[in-house]
Amino acid sequence: MGKFYVTTPIYYPSDNLHIGHAYTTVVADALARYHRLLGEDVYFLTGTDEHGQKIQRRAEAAGKTPQAFVDEIVDNIKSLWKLLKISNDDFIRTTEPRHTEKVQRIFQRLYDQGDIYKSEYEGLYCTPCEAFWLERQLVDGKCPDCGREVEKVREESYFFRLSKYADRLMAHIEANPDFIQPVSRKNEMINNFLRPGLEDLCVSRTTFSWGIPVPFDQKHVIYVWLDALTNYITALGYPDEAGKGGLFDRFWPADLHLVGKEIVRFHTIIWPIILMALGLPLPKQVFGHGWLVLDGGKMSKSKGNVIDPVVLVEKYGLDAVRYFLLREVPFGADGVYSEEALVLRINTDLANDLGNLLHRTLSMVEKFAGGVVPAPGGYGPLEEALIAEANLTLEKVQKHMDKLEVSDALAAIFALIGRANKYIDEAAPWSLNKQGNRERLGTVLYTMVEVIRLSAVLLTPFLVETPARIFAQLGLDTDPTAQGLVAGGKWGQYPAGTKVRKGDPLFPRIEWEKETGAEKEKPAPAQPQEKAAPPAAEPEQITYEEFAKIQLRVAKVLAAERLEGTDKLLRLQVRLGSEERQIVAGIAKYYQPEELVGKEIVVVANLKPAKLRGVLSQGMLLAASNGDQLALVVPEKTVGDGAEVR
Ligand code: MSP
Repeated sequence: MGKFYVTTPIYYPSDNLHIGHAYTTVVADALARYHRLLGEDVYFLTGTDEHGQKIQRRAEAAGKTPQAFVDEIVDNIKSLWKLLKISNDDFIRTTEPRHTEKVQRIFQRLYDQGDIYKSEYEGLYCTPCEAFWLERQLVDGKCPDCGREVEKVREESYFFRLSKYADRLMAHIEANPDFIQPVSRKNEMINNFLRPGLEDLCVSRTTFSWGIPVPFDQKHVIYVWLDALTNYITALGYPDEAGKGGLFDRFWPADLHLVGKEIVRFHTIIWPIILMALGLPLPKQVFGHGWLVLDGGKMSKSKGNVIDPVVLVEKYGLDAVRYFLLREVPFGADGVYSEEALVLRINTDLANDLGNLLHRTLSMVEKFAGGVVPAPGGYGPLEEALIAEANLTLEKVQKHMDKLEVSDALAAIFALIGRANKYIDEAAPWSLNKQGNRERLGTVLYTMVEVIRLSAVLLTPFLVETPARIFAQLGLDTDPTAQGLVAGGKWGQYPAGTKVRKGDPLFPRIEWEKETGAEKEKPAPAQPQEKAAPPAAEPEQITYEEFAKIQLRVAKVLAAERLEGTDKLLRLQVRLGSEERQIVAGIAKYYQPEELVGKEIVVVANLKPAKLRGVLSQGMLLAASNGDQLALVVPEKTVGDGAEVR
């Protein structure tokens, strides 16, 4: 039996969490549930990252002690995970003694073995990111991660010898292609941080006090990222429990650290080096997922554009919100959140496809068989095809989940649900009833019920209430998770002769227009032929003002990768001055992803964000094309990203 140790980042309790935070945790939860359903030994850790200058300042501003300030928010975070039915095995707070005393021992050991030394730090610090920067790493004088002001700090500090381990880390990354995923993030780490060379890291601060004291020099507090990253092992009892057959031996190394893309650097450079210095094996994988964004911008309290998951769950129900988070965005890419998209998912997939399948089926079982599901007679070709598809769906779910393609796994289950709806139309039980063909009718009704039971089992890693509601309506008193995914996902287990219990619709349709008062968009009237666009030979002229509306800017390609499932599209991570964006471009036939990294290109910067194959594109690049040739438009010499093109 395998084991699976999965972690989320530990959250800063500086504000209540928004839907973007819930995203990471819901994905980790689906993965943990999936591995449990395969019978694996699973440990799922989450928690809160409570120290540091940012929290101290927030507490001061709120007129509270840091501890009182974080206690309140941590309670809210715990209630949120309860509301979302997150199945974490532990919740670690970095202010708990079980963590702080272990961090002190880790720090002491690194110091004793010469990996930490005392010196003076003079440099730059971004407090919102709690990150040190070098002058050369800034973008327009601002933090390259969040675009905010950095502060000059000069203080006596302890340093951690990152540089000593840089070659070993590079060798590890190269020898273990799965260590950093997706591959674009790996390239970014290599090109932007490892290749230019690692500096030793400042790992203590003296200008504020909200942190874990350095055990042998109490005026220093331990750098919050060193404190925070070690949660992944202190929660398992390291160092005390190492070698004692407890949680640490059972679960370390982690199978998966799920993190947002902006903190991949801490998890794939600083964290592995800490582990190397401690002589511990490295996590098997760090996966940097994209952000849920609103109107092209990241959600953040300071922008005032946060979406409260509690409100959404109250309004639409837990499984609808979980389904949206897990299904809408291909995992890894940035995705756009909009309430309209959420409602669309509920209405199409959940209400129409799944809800209707159950409703139609139970209505027919009631009408044609007195509410008792008949035993199947012999299966015909229609059933054979559906059963084959059902078996294949279980395989697809496993294949996708093993690659963290959570959205694709759900898409496969909903393809089966769609197929089942089609089966009903083809098998036409109403005609069989009319003809009095009881045997064939029994087979068809049984098949309809069984495909629903099986789909409900397949949905158990993702949805936490609906599968049990479906089972109850099918007249089953068992728990849909009871047999696990593989045994429960096998065809033919519904006990014929069971009386169904048709209930309320699973997901009532939502009237979006009514909800918002928004007017239905009217289709544009068809253009009369005479008014067709002028022929290509005479392009319509525009004024300078019209042209000036288009903002063209130079962008630097930080990472590029092929978009799975297409042979045309590339996903580019680009930087325009202090801002990073993702652009999806149809240039895969003309450029290899590797040759684009580091290039300066020209993009339309104020184009409305759009989704291509479900992936957010925040701009469009310019290219010249002539028949089957295509060439990117690039500045003739390096001008720096962010520069305007006019
Ligand atoms: N405390 C650090 C993590 C330390 S781990 C040793 C931290 N905390 S955080 O609260 O700022 O962010 C926690 C996680 O939420 C990060 O992975 C971050 O990427 C994720 N998200 C925050 N906003 C998000 C979106 N809008 N969309 C998706 N994920 C987002 O970083």
